[in-house]
Amino acid sequence: MATSLFFQSPTILLFLLHLTNQSHPYTSPNPSLITTTTTTTTTIIQLPRSSRPHLQPTFYVTNFNATGDGIHYDTPYIQAAVDACSAAGGGQVIFPPGTYLTATIHLKSGVVLVIEEGARVLGGTKLEDYPQEARKWYVVVAEDANDVGITGGGVIDGQGLEFVEKVDERKNVMVSWNRTGACYGDECRPRLVGFLGCRNVSVWNVTLTEPAYWCLHVVRCDNTSIHDVSIHGNFNTPNNDGIDIEDSNNTVITRCDIDTGDDAICPKTYTGPLYNLTVTNCWIRTKSSAIKLGSASWFNYKGLLFDNITIVNSHRGLGLQIRDGGNVSDVTFSNINISTRYYHPSWWGRAEPIYVTTCPRDSNSKAGSISNILFINITATSENGVFLSGSKGGVLRNLRFINMNFTYRRWTNYTGGLVDYRPGCQGLVNHSTAGIIMEHIDGLEVENMKMRWSDDRLRRWNNPLDFRPSTVNNINLLNFHSGTYKQ
Ligand SMILES: *[C@@H]1O[C@H](CO)[C@@H](O)[C@H](O)[C@H]1NC(C)=O
Ligand SMILES: *[C@@H]1O[C@H](CO)[C@@H](O)[C@H](O)[C@H]1NC(C)=O
Ligand SMILES: *[C@@H]1O[C@H](CO)[C@@H](O)[C@H](O)[C@H]1NC(C)=O
Ligand SMILES: *[C@@H]1O[C@H](CO)[C@@H](O)[C@H](O)[C@H]1NC(C)=O
Ligand SMILES: *[C@@H]1O[C@H](CO)[C@@H](O)[C@H](O)[C@H]1NC(C)=O
Ligand SMILES: *[C@@H]1O[C@H](CO)[C@@H](O)[C@H](O)[C@H]1NC(C)=O
Ligand SMILES: *[C@@H]1O[C@H](CO)[C@@H](O)[C@H](O)[C@H]1NC(C)=O
Ligand SMILES: *[C@@H]1O[C@H](CO)[C@@H](O)[C@H](O)[C@H]1NC(C)=O
Ligand SMILES: *[C@@H]1O[C@H](CO)[C@@H](O)[C@H](O)[C@H]1NC(C)=O
Ligand SMILES: *[C@@H]1O[C@H](CO)[C@@H](O)[C@H](O)[C@H]1NC(C)=O
Ligand SMILES: *[C@@H]1O[C@H](CO)[C@@H](O)[C@H](O)[C@H]1NC(C)=O
Ligand SMILES: *[C@@H]1O[C@H](CO)[C@@H](O)[C@H](O)[C@H]1NC(C)=O
Repeated sequence: MATSLFFQSPTILLFLLHLTNQSHPYTSPNPSLITTTTTTTTTIIQLPRSSRPHLQPTFYVTNFNATGDGIHYDTPYIQAAVDACSAAGGGQVIFPPGTYLTATIHLKSGVVLVIEEGARVLGGTKLEDYPQEARKWYVVVAEDANDVGITGGGVIDGQGLEFVEKVDERKNVMVSWNRTGACYGDECRPRLVGFLGCRNVSVWNVTLTEPAYWCLHVVRCDNTSIHDVSIHGNFNTPNNDGIDIEDSNNTVITRCDIDTGDDAICPKTYTGPLYNLTVTNCWIRTKSSAIKLGSASWFNYKGLLFDNITIVNSHRGLGLQIRDGGNVSDVTFSNINISTRYYHPSWWGRAEPIYVTTCPRDSNSKAGSISNILFINITATSENGVFLSGSKGGVLRNLRFINMNFTYRRWTNYTGGLVDYRPGCQGLVNHSTAGIIMEHIDGLEVENMKMRWSDDRLRRWNNPLDFRPSTVNNINLLNFHSGTYKQ
């Protein structure tokens, strides 16, 4: 049976912390076991553990006549191997070293694609390589499948550079496939890997490279494990997201490296809520947000943990960008190292290490809420300050910052002094730089916060804390330091 082939190893236990008002010691003894005792209510995400299966039928795509020459399309042979594997009750479909040019591959229940080291699955670059419906444009897609996975140490390559119409250091201009009317605008490009409505998904030990649009997309899934995955997008390509988790429950992401242009890890809610997401031990560089909740946020988010993450030279670090009426609660960010800097303003982000907003997208949007958010053990070096901005209908409640170490320094030539409310909302607004800008907050607790300001007379730093008492209530500062330092 497929399940017994795929998930025969012991389970990973993840103790996901739910917030309360107390903090206690924390230990992370090994990468697969995360124990958090910060809480009165500790919850556990229990996921099947992925590992290379042992006892299963194997189906070599080469035995199904795939050439792996990188010139001829291997689509029908790869698909025949997948179909045969699924019909046999599941197993592995193996890609030995070679380059497999292909149109969309439909992954089926019970099947694990094993793309071996030296093997590369190369996505086609023509509209006819992808299904009719734009929402199914992926190089590899699984729909309503159970017990599916991708591994093997090899590469899936979307040939994203072939979709660049004009190379631009600031932001590439991309091809649009909207001519069929399937979709509109420049976001009309294929994604790389998609799991739609799946259960028990594992993606591990694989490199995902050069997506034309988003890279790894998990939609309406339950029990997804993503680990030891490297994602290399293009730093100048818009919408080159890393991992988009949408309307899905019980997702664990660990030991991933993401270097890309757009949002690196991006939980979204379009058609349903998102519960229980744990992201640990990752390294991220992006020209947009490293972590971003939203901006699609029609439904609720609950029970998210981001721990031990390194964010380098990104445009924004930790972002909660709630625009559409969803409510976010019980989210922890712990042990995170951040450096953020300015890039071209056509990219959302203004070098904020932390960015939290509920400003509704437009006048028709409801305001969502953000509550019970803990930031603990965060070190950041950034060109701009923290931005915390609720809205009249969506006050930020119970935000806690513990052990924060902020260094503010300028090292690029981009102009500062702008607050970025995009998308929608108020857009870009002039506002002097501050350590933390606060708007529409009820309940903010700070314990051990250090702000260090580079001693650079030319840079016009402003207030450490910037708020109007009329919209901000119940602030509690314990052990707060702010001062300049010599660069
Ligand atoms: C925060 O850091 C301190 C000091 O390194 C450590 O003792 C504590 O366990 C950390 N807390 C969390 C929640 O990781
Ligand atoms: C979230 O995780 C907790 C703890 O494992 C579990 O009790 C709960 O059912 C999960 N929620 C969903 C929607 O699966
Ligand atoms: C998710 O995994 C857990 C642990 O293996 C299992 O008990 C549960 O049935 C799975 N949920 C689904 C929807 O497959
Ligand atoms: C592979 O090609 C051989 C020789 O043309 C043919 O006999 C065989 O049926 C093909 N196998 C598949 C799975 O298409
Ligand atoms: C990844 O797969 C390769 C090839 O099978 C293997 O040698 C390597 O040990 C795997 N790495 C991990 C972290 O599983
Ligand atoms: C394709 O998108 C572009 C950019 O948004 C737009 O100008 C054009 O009208 C669209 N064309 C079609 C056929 O949708
Ligand atoms: C997911 O895997 C778990 C553990 O092997 C199994 O109990 C559960 O039935 C699977 N879910 C589905 C929908 O296959
Ligand atoms: C996630 O859990 C919520 C709450 O139980 C449920 O409403 C939703 O349908 C679940 N989503 C999926 C994809 O299973
Ligand atoms: C933190 O993540 C890095 C990988 O980014 C890993 O090398 C390190 O061991 C992790 N630390 C802990 C305490 O798990
Ligand atoms: C968010 O919370 C508000 C207030 O409790 C509620 O009216 C609204 O329906 C919630 N939004 C969602 C998407 O559940
Ligand atoms: C704060 O961060 C700076 C710069 O990264 C570092 O030199 C300093 O040791 C940190 N201080 C603490 C208390 O962690
Ligand atoms: C900033 O501008 C100065 C003067 O024009 C130039 O020398 C320097 O290289 C620029 N720095 C960066 C990081 O672009």
